[in-house]
Amino acid sequence: MRLHTSFRRILGAAAAALLLPAAAARADQPKIRVGLMLPYSGTYTSLGVNITNGFKLAIAEHGGKLGGRAIEYFTVDDESDPAKAPDNANKLIKRDHVDVLVGTVHSGVALAMAKMAKDTGTLLIVPNAGAGDITGPLCAPNIFRTSFTMWQSGYAMGKEALREGKKTAVTFTWKYAAGEESVDAFKEAFEAGGGKVLKMMALPFPQVEFQSYLTEIAALKPDMVYSFFSGGGAVKYVKDYAAAGLKAHIPLYGPGFLTDGTLEGQGEAAQGILTTLHYGDGLDNPKDKAFRAAYLKAYGSEPDVFSVQGYDSGQLLAAGVEAVKGDISKRKELIAAMEHAKIDSPRGPMTLSRSHNPVNNIYLRKVVGKENKVIGIAAPALADPGRGCKM
Ligand code: PHB
Repeated sequence: MRLHTSFRRILGAAAAALLLPAAAARADQPKIRVGLMLPYSGTYTSLGVNITNGFKLAIAEHGGKLGGRAIEYFTVDDESDPAKAPDNANKLIKRDHVDVLVGTVHSGVALAMAKMAKDTGTLLIVPNAGAGDITGPLCAPNIFRTSFTMWQSGYAMGKEALREGKKTAVTFTWKYAAGEESVDAFKEAFEAGGGKVLKMMALPFPQVEFQSYLTEIAALKPDMVYSFFSGGGAVKYVKDYAAAGLKAHIPLYGPGFLTDGTLEGQGEAAQGILTTLHYGDGLDNPKDKAFRAAYLKAYGSEPDVFSVQGYDSGQLLAAGVEAVKGDISKRKELIAAMEHAKIDSPRGPMTLSRSHNPVNNIYLRKVVGKENKVIGIAAPALADPGRGCKM
């Protein structure tokens, strides 16, 4: 009798399922829980906001759903503080039980997140931080990056500086993984081609008291300066550099972070600065045009490289989740689809290296007005060597 009843119940449920339209049948599927761990305060605030905007735009373009499942966001302000990173990541992993962690901007924080992702198996998409170790010794099947390594833009600029005829340089940056790796990569390429780095200077993150260093640069008289700063700190640095009277005779170069998303604040002081980056203004590809129009419409502001990286993180997640039709328990298939994704990025075509880092052009850009105008390709389809990655 009991068997008979449950059989009827099953039959009833199957019949009901058959009658339901597909969308309604999926409606009770649990949402995919996305944890955004990004800076929403401090010098990198605008980077965190623009990554968030870009990510959400990509999801919105998929109707707010991936593989038929709605997306639910959980957000934590990481304050670009590595000391708080384990607690902050735990809030998302252990408290909110996110399916995927997206973050972050600051390399010190992202390194801690990558360690936790490796330990817990949580799917991690890094939408900015450029520390090499994330896709080097810490690389793992569940760790992806849609942005860059510091090596890529730094190395490309070392070569470009040689082409510009520079023989001596001083480097100046924030003293933490991102800054150190950026200037090291510049030095690697510059000195391999016969250039000489006279001095490497650094101040603690996120300090902005640049004056004494600028005085020293004036005394050293290098052919050029190579600097990594970003966000609010970059706005002040570029203005201080010009105000110190250095700009006219010791040109300032850097990775594109120095002038991306900052030109409104830097104004005249930034004009003419040459940088290297995987994105820029005037790329003139259909995807970039569509992306920029959609972003402007959604947020009322122009996108920058950080918006692009957020957008591509959304696109990468979509490629994975749609390949498994929303069934993210199919880990192997999900990861394989992400690994082999050919992302139609606003930056141009983007694929991932064996260590899950983007392979893309590194453009040469020049600040003209409010734009980082692309004036050439400093390094085509440049892949980070992924040193130390075993997977
Ligand atoms: C980093 O910490 O890796 C970082 C931060 C800001 C940037 C680029 C890299 O613009």
